[in-house]
Formats: sequence, structure tokens, C-alpha cells
Amino acid sequence: MRIDIITIFPGMFAPVLNESIVKRAQEKNKVKIKIHDLREFTQDKHNKVDDRPFGGGSGMVLTAQPIFDAVAKIKSQSHLPVRQAGKVITHKRIPTPPIASGAKSQGSKVVLLCPQGKIFDQAMAKKLSKEKHLIFICGHYEGIDERVREIVVDEEISIGDYVLTGGELPAMVVVDAIVRLIPGVLGDKNSLNFESFEGNLLEYPQYTRPANFRGNKVPGVLLCGDHKKIASWQKAEALKRTKTRRPDLLTVKKQRRQ
Ligand code: 6GU
Repeated sequence: MRIDIITIFPGMFAPVLNESIVKRAQEKNKVKIKIHDLREFTQDKHNKVDDRPFGGGSGMVLTAQPIFDAVAKIKSQSHLPVRQAGKVITHKRIPTPPIASGAKSQGSKVVLLCPQGKIFDQAMAKKLSKEKHLIFICGHYEGIDERVREIVVDEEISIGDYVLTGGELPAMVVVDAIVRLIPGVLGDKNSLNFESFEGNLLEYPQYTRPANFRGNKVPGVLLCGDHKKIASWQKAEALKRTKTRRPDLLTVKKQRRQ
């Protein structure tokens, strides 16, 4: 997968994306992540990327030109490796209509991070993890020129009902959730075990050594060696925890089954 992120704060990303599992995913060539400074695309002589809103009102609005041009440039350069028997044999450009035509993406999906977007969840992460090429635009200030939404953006995402200063942290949240779902990024054993519960139940309580920590003992069932018994205890605990903390997850599950 290829991920491009368009931002006015490019420096925010390296400390997060170049650590841990996302770092390893890049090293293993499971994902290629590139950060683009929106200011480098402005045609304004003072390097501006925002302006006052038509009709008045407080705050500034991100202008259309740098975003249109950044997305166009990224799309024109979006070559993906074509593999045969695991080896890269060539690079093929992802087919996509020119932005000026008004058509939305085919090979690349353009996602705007903004508070008006659809609330991000695990199902969306799963769907996005199957895309070949994602372009994230980090929203800012009071907003973004509506023509970006109308012409360039395929999908709008918010990470929750609270206001952040910009779309950078949400972009990192979304990238993290997506990258760990790309096949081969997590250890297979881990991911498969996890998938069956994912999004439906909260995790059961976990313990590690020592079995007795300052008088606080691990539940005896975990030490009994009977894997069937342990599995049914874990499932019951997960269900109990979900019922008390997140009953809404159980309702969603029922609704989906119907
Ligand atoms: Cl994507 N952007 C901003 N500015 N605030 C948010 C958000 C996004 N998601 C939740 N709050």
C-alpha cells in the first residue's frame, strides 16, 4: 500500500510513524508513507495556504489551489510495484482521471480528515486497509474551501465527537489502525486470534508473571493447563466486560446479524 499525507505541519509525523509497528511495516515494504508540505504547492507569492472566508466570519479557510495541485502531483506520481512470486518486476501507475475533469479517484482514494466526517471505526479501518493508494488531507483552521470536498475528496473521516486543532493527529490514528491490518504486518498468529473478536468484544483480562504479585493472585483457571477451560473463561470475561463497559457493541453485533 502507498499512503500520502498532505499537511501544513509535516514535522508532526516522523516521531509517530517512524516508531513501532508502523516503522516495521515500512521497513518490510508493506507500506510506503510519504509526507507532503502543503506550503510547497502554493502559488501565492507570500506562501499562503489560507484566506478569509467569503461572506465573513471568524477564522481562516484553506484555499483550493495548493490542495488541488498537491493531489494532482501525487496522483501523477503514484506508481505501485507489480510483484511476481514476491519479487518486484515493474512499477505501474495507478489509473486515475485528471482532477480538472471533476471525476473522483479510481485507483487512489482521497480522504479528508475533518470534524464533519464519518466517525472512524474498525470496519472502516478494515475497508481502507484493502486500498492500494490512500491520500490523506489534514483539514485546518475554520475549514477548507468547499470545492476541495466537491471535486477532490472521496471520503471524509472524523475520529470522534471532540474538536482538535487539525487533522494531523487523526491522520496518524487512522494510518496506525489501517497499517496494522495489512497482511504480514502483525505476526499472523496474533492477528488471526484477534480478528475473531475484533470490533465485537473487548479484550479479556490479561496477566503475566509472577502468579502472585505482592499477595495479588492470578485467577486460578489460567494456571490449570486446560486450554479449553481457559478459552471459555476468557470468552466469558470478554463478554462480561463488554456488557458492563460497552453494551452498545453487543447491540451493533446483533443488528449486523439480522
Ligand atoms: Cl479529523 N479533525 C479535527 N480538527 N478535529 C477532530 C477530528 C478531525 N476528529 C475529531 N475531532
